[in-house]
Amino acid sequence: MAEPTLEIQQQVAQLRHQLQQAAYAYYVLDNPVMEDGVYDQLYRQLQTLESQYPRLITPDSPTQRVGDRPAEQFPSVRHNIPLYSLENAFNLQELAEWQERWRRQAPDVQEAAYVCELKIDGNALALTYENGILVRGATRGDGVSGEEITANVRTIRSIPLKLTLDFPPPLLEVRGEAFLPITEFERLNQGKIAAGEPPFANPRNAAAGTLRQLDSQVVSRRRLQFFAYTLYFSGNNPEHILKSQWDALNLLQRLGFLVNLHRQRCPSLDAVRAYCETWDTKRHELPYMTDGVVVKLDDFALQQRLGFTQNFPAGDRPQISRRRSSDPHQGNHR
Ligand code: IVH
Repeated sequence: MAEPTLEIQQQVAQLRHQLQQAAYAYYVLDNPVMEDGVYDQLYRQLQTLESQYPRLITPDSPTQRVGDRPAEQFPSVRHNIPLYSLENAFNLQELAEWQERWRRQAPDVQEAAYVCELKIDGNALALTYENGILVRGATRGDGVSGEEITANVRTIRSIPLKLTLDFPPPLLEVRGEAFLPITEFERLNQGKIAAGEPPFANPRNAAAGTLRQLDSQVVSRRRLQFFAYTLYFSGNNPEHILKSQWDALNLLQRLGFLVNLHRQRCPSLDAVRAYCETWDTKRHELPYMTDGVVVKLDDFALQQRLGFTQNFPAGDRPQISRRRSSDPHQGNHR
């Protein structure tokens, strides 16, 4: 087989870069920068060059999102860091009690900022990046071990195959929620009903069923999405020493992830309350399902003092969710 010239190698790298940028603008920023026809043309050019010079194929190439062979089964993998779940759903009264409790544990700290995030009603995923390249995607499972579903995770266009970092850490783990937008869920169920198959009960079940499909081509057609909300990294890259959850979310966005836009840094519990109240009703306007709000202490140093650490590998951090008892869709009831 002919060896690619330097020129061909550069052309392949350039095509990949252009396609990655265009996909990021489309799937993450929701702000397309390229006509579909142009994208398809560049994609086909890359495919042709890769088939002429298979040596140039890399796992992060945009052509490598969908595998050609279905999996036989999903191996079980142990998580580098366990995935915890929220056991308590708090109401607004309990939120104040939680603040009192942590203040007693850190009496010198009276004011601390919180980060409020929507609790996305999907399926938690743990993504492992080695030297900036996605090498593993796993379901939560029982929190200690999950199923390795990397081929399916790779089809989710809002999950970068390669991080946009010049000097990526050796190991980086991203946590977040995979979900099906409501319109996708409806489209999927219409298809099921037309085919005489039982429909999915709700978007979360539909997302779970999709993630566990053995054929990644089927997964690719279902248009799952992913919101990132946590990251852990190893190595000592000073640019990425993070001080807070707010910084972590912003860094995740810079790395190429879709991070929920409705996050808010709240300077006080009053602001947290207002956020919860707003989203209690506003959530019905969203194109995806949520089931509460996750409230996190913003400052990692404070989290650490309270017994939660940001180091890799180590435990998770305190987060709470609120539930309005009259509304079974709110809060953490899994
Ligand atoms: S933080 C303690 N942030 O809710 C671990 N979780 O029981 C909490 N979830 O299945 C992780 N949106 O996957 C966090 N913005 C968010 C979230 C979120 C949804 C899920 C999480 C887990 C459940 C917590």
